[in-house]
Amino acid sequence: MSIDLIVHSANQVLTLAGDAPKRGATQGDLAILRDGALAIRGERIIAVGDTRELLARADAQTRTIDARGKIVLPGFVDAHTHAVFAGDRAHEFEMRLQGASYLDIQKAGGGIMSTVRATRAATVDALVAQSRARLDALLAHGTTTAEVKTGYGLDTATELKMLDAIAALDAEHALDLVPTFLGAHVVPEEFKGREEEYVALVVEEMLPGIDRRPKTEDRKHPSSVVGRPSFCDVFCDDGAFTLAQTRKILTRAKELGFGLRVHADEFANLGAATLAAELGAASADHLMVTRREEMRAMAQANVVAVLLPGTTFGLGKTNFADGRAFVEENVPVALASDLNPGTCWCESMPFVIALACRYEKLTPAEAIVAATINAAYSLRIADRVGSLAPGKLADALIADVPDYRHLAYRFGANPIATVIKRGKIILDPPK
Ligand code: NIG
Ligand code: FE
Repeated sequence: MSIDLIVHSANQVLTLAGDAPKRGATQGDLAILRDGALAIRGERIIAVGDTRELLARADAQTRTIDARGKIVLPGFVDAHTHAVFAGDRAHEFEMRLQGASYLDIQKAGGGIMSTVRATRAATVDALVAQSRARLDALLAHGTTTAEVKTGYGLDTATELKMLDAIAALDAEHALDLVPTFLGAHVVPEEFKGREEEYVALVVEEMLPGIDRRPKTEDRKHPSSVVGRPSFCDVFCDDGAFTLAQTRKILTRAKELGFGLRVHADEFANLGAATLAAELGAASADHLMVTRREEMRAMAQANVVAVLLPGTTFGLGKTNFADGRAFVEENVPVALASDLNPGTCWCESMPFVIALACRYEKLTPAEAIVAATINAAYSLRIADRVGSLAPGKLADALIADVPDYRHLAYRFGANPIATVIKRGKIILDPPK
């Protein structure tokens, strides 16, 4: 079988091989090959192995990339973003620096609601154009698959418009997107004092409407359904949705066949991590104030903990999620950017890894597992991305560092030299 591309002679190939989420003692299992190589045909990996063996299979058509002195790893999977939005909130950032809290700003009509106003006012084309630049930045920092949430519409028409924008971006952009419906991000201002009516709108109108969207069974990725979102998420917290409201929405979503995710324990612990375990959610995210017994319930129910240290940093806070405790309690840990205009405008998974090691007490190897294969499991796409294995999509990175630990050790500059997406060399920045 002819080979289109061979990346060879890497100091380390982090294969991330394995067939289950990595947790506890295996959370840091990178499955490293030394002097390793990766062979690609079309958009798939066909072999991972020894440089000499794979180069011996090259023919005149095979392109080769010498990765000597560098490392090769799977593209990052960013399991939690709000990358599609209009406008920005730079003025609120400045207010927070002067002492206003995130919740104070939200209560005064700003926060998520100010992005909702901008997003409602934007055309699909404007939303796509503004978001495209962020997807470009994600890709340049090594993200090859990203989850993207709605949640800046908060009315049926704008939530659907956001899904259209996500679908359009997925179709045109090299990055693969996994959409999540987050109609329950906050209660929009026009429903003030009528919160239960908004919950009823989500349950009775939005969810069934979204469920009817065509299943565009893949143009790009076989499992991805860009018309109908794969997941439903709820922001369960002070100033957002109560535990009872979250239960109502997620229970209906589950009946309709959506996978579940939940924004849990970002500010206050309302019991959302336990609820995620009870409902068999794919992930619970944030988890800055989660208790040990809740971690154990998550482990039991195979809920992936998606930690977002960029958000804690972005808020200027120091109560980072206790990543070490999640590993100790045997919960599979993933990392994500939470890219959003309010708490964390960050497109860099390497920076997220650097933060997770310092403040959430993950080792560099654990953080890399969290940013690749475990994130893929949390999105239920680990059968095609998240590790370097024959048959999987050829989503791979060459990082210009001699050892994987440098991905966490260094920060602030971009260590990613080359991005290969679905077998194509997308970015190979000149040095
Ligand atoms: O994950 N927590 C809710 N959602 C985002 C913030 C979104 C925003 O402020 O626009 C988060 O932090
Ligand atoms: Fe979020």
